[in-house]
Formats: sequence, structure tokens, C-alpha cells
Amino acid sequence: MDRIRTAIVGASGYTGGELLRILLGHPSVEVTQATSERLAGKPVILAHPNLRGRTDLRFTSLSSLAPCDVLFLCLPHGTTARQFDTLAQQAPRIIDLSADFRLKDTVAYEKWYGGPHPAPGRLGEFVYGIPELHREEIRRARYVATAGCNATASILGLRPLYAAGLVQPGRTVVDVKVSSSEGGGVPSTASHHPERAGVIRSYKPTGHRHQAELRQELGLAADEPLHFSATAVDIVRGLLVTAHVFPSRPLQEIDLWKTYRAAYGTEPFIRLVKTKDGVHRYPEPKLLWGTNYCDIGFDIDRDTGRVVVLAAIDNLVKGSGGQAVQCMNLMHGVPETAGLEFTGLHPV
Ligand SMILES: NC(=O)c1ccc[n+]([C@@H]2O[C@H](COP(=O)([O-])OP(=O)(O)OC[C@H]3O[C@@H](n4cnc5c(N)ncnc54)[C@H](OP(=O)(O)O)[C@@H]3O)[C@@H](O)[C@H]2O)c1
Repeated sequence: MDRIRTAIVGASGYTGGELLRILLGHPSVEVTQATSERLAGKPVILAHPNLRGRTDLRFTSLSSLAPCDVLFLCLPHGTTARQFDTLAQQAPRIIDLSADFRLKDTVAYEKWYGGPHPAPGRLGEFVYGIPELHREEIRRARYVATAGCNATASILGLRPLYAAGLVQPGRTVVDVKVSSSEGGGVPSTASHHPERAGVIRSYKPTGHRHQAELRQELGLAADEPLHFSATAVDIVRGLLVTAHVFPSRPLQEIDLWKTYRAAYGTEPFIRLVKTKDGVHRYPEPKLLWGTNYCDIGFDIDRDTGRVVVLAAIDNLVKGSGGQAVQCMNLMHGVPETAGLEFTGLHPV
């Protein structure tokens, strides 16, 4: 079988770098181009030194982008939609990692992104890129918009309970602890080492944009509240969701095991993590660094009946580059796990 010819736009950034790492190790893929305006002409290892010895690829400018089979777009949100018509001429299949085409509803987009959508006619052409939810649509898709990192873990953690009708509407509280790489590679005052190191900083106690994706994918009614907060913590990659759910009827642990096993029993990248013994009894982002897993666990507060759902991922893999490759595998009919088999490290 011919190799899938892929190119990455915005390849000097953090998600672009992870995509490069994964695609260079993928058995069915050739990376034909990696773009950066800032570093055009320079070797990609200047931005991604972990790839030394694996590639002699050099960054090219977007203006010299050539046709390929799959184009990955890793641009800041807002940038992609404005130039999508031009980019779409270069590839029959496109996977966008930005937020530009994730929301189906233009009103929701306007509310959360502060202005009208630059290409509203295109929204219906994109499939929301969480394979565990939209596998068959992704197989048939030309265009996929991969989910936000916080959204991916939150949705995967909560969806089985919502789908089974086990949630009291309007009372769910989602708290996400986020790493510094979520902010991308462009430095700011907030990401400057003396300001960021050692923090537990309330980053978005309210108003985080990713909750729009949760609303869409959990199927919430327009008037149903969802409570979402994000806190920046002192790690470079990974995120942990702690979601508090008030069930619509009293639940036992066995109910939760049955619900989650029914939803994810055969999923290659979802692991149910809840053990009685040992140190690692619930999902932990650190164990997932570099992997495409989403680990999901849960507990029930015996006094109140509250269900606590825990979900962890690496934001740069299952939360972006890895999930994008998982989607590409589906779109091209290669094994869904190809290029994504890394198990993570312990200890690390
Ligand atoms: N970081 C995460 O955890 C994460 C997770 C999921 C999704 N995402 C989304 O993925 C996208 C990329 O995120 P990132 O963290 O990789 O960002 P990043 O590290 O800041 O990288 C951005 C990339 O876009 C390029 N770029 C910026 N403006 C451009 C323009 N006007 N024209 C052409 N290229 C341009 C940059 O290239 P130059 O070298 O030319 O500057 C760079 O390669 C964002 O939309 C982000 O929201 C990020």
C-alpha cells in the first residue's frame, strides 16, 4: 500500500511537534512538509530537538505548500477558518486541531469566540473528532475538527452517564487541572517561568470556551446549566478532570462499572482505572505522558450519593496530535492504533 502523504501546517508549535513525532514513527505515513513562517528553511529539529536523528526535514513557508493526502492544521484559533478555502485546495482530507470548526452552532461560536464565524458555511462539513463518539462519521469524513484537550477528557468521562440518563440536569460541576503546554509555544507574561513555576493558579474559574464543546457533545438543552472551572498547575503536559455529578437515582459502584464497560469495553485508548490497592488507584496525567490513552475512573460519595468522575490525558497526544492521528487512521482505513502504541513511562 502506498504511504499516506501528510503535511503539517503550523509544525513549529507544540501540537505540530507532537504530530511530527507520531507521524515519523507511523508505519503507513510519509511526512512531506512541515510549515513555519518564522523558521522557514531551518531544520525541524531546531524547534523539536527530540526528533534529532529521525528526520532531516526542514520547515517550509505556507506559501510553498504542495498537494498531499492529509493536511493537518495546527494554527491558532481564528487563523484556520480565514484561510481554509486556500488550504482546502491542497488535500482531499483535512484534520484541523484548532477550535475553528468544532462547534456546529454559529450562535454558540459567536458567544464563546467573541464574533461571527469567518466561514459559517463550512461548519457542517466537519465531523467532531473524538473517535469514541463519532467513529463511523470520521471514517467517511473529508474534514475533521479534533476536540479541545479539556473537552476531550471531560466529554469522554461524562458522556456514558449522560447517555444513560443517569445525571440530574444542571448540577454537574467540572474542574480541570491544566498544564502549561496547553497555552502553546508562544511565551507570555503568564507563562514566563518565574510567574508559572510552582503555581496552582485559578485560570478560568468561569467562562472557559471548552464548555461549549461539552454542551454540544453531551447534548445539553439550551437552558441546562453546566459548571466548568480550570486551574493551572505546575506540570508541562497532561490534564486531570474531576467532575462532580449528582445522579438522577441512587447509584452503586456496580452500576458505574456496567455503564462505563458498556460504553468503552472495546475501546483501544480508554482504560478504566479504579483499584483498591497501590499508589495509582485513579487516573493520573503523569503516567500518560506521550500516550494516546484517556484513563477514566470514578468514586461514589456514600454520604451524599455524589459521583466523582476522574479523567486524565496528555493534552498534546489524546488531547490533540494523537487524537488527530487516530482520526487519520480511521479516514484512511489503516489500523486505528497505528503509530499510537506507546505505553508511557514509569517511573518518570
Ligand atoms: N497546546 C495544546 O495543548 C492544544 C491542545 C489541543 C488543541 N490545540 C490547538 O491547536 C492549535 C495549535 O496549538 P499549539 O499549542 O501547537 O500552538 P503554538 O505552539 O503556538 O503553535 C502555533 C503554530 O502556528 C503557526 N502560526 C501562527 N500564526 C500563523 C499564521 N498567521 N500563519 C501561519 N502559521 C502561523 C506557528 O508558526 P511560526 O513558527 O511561523 O510562528 C506555529 O507553528 C491551536 O488552535 C490550539 O488551540 C492546542
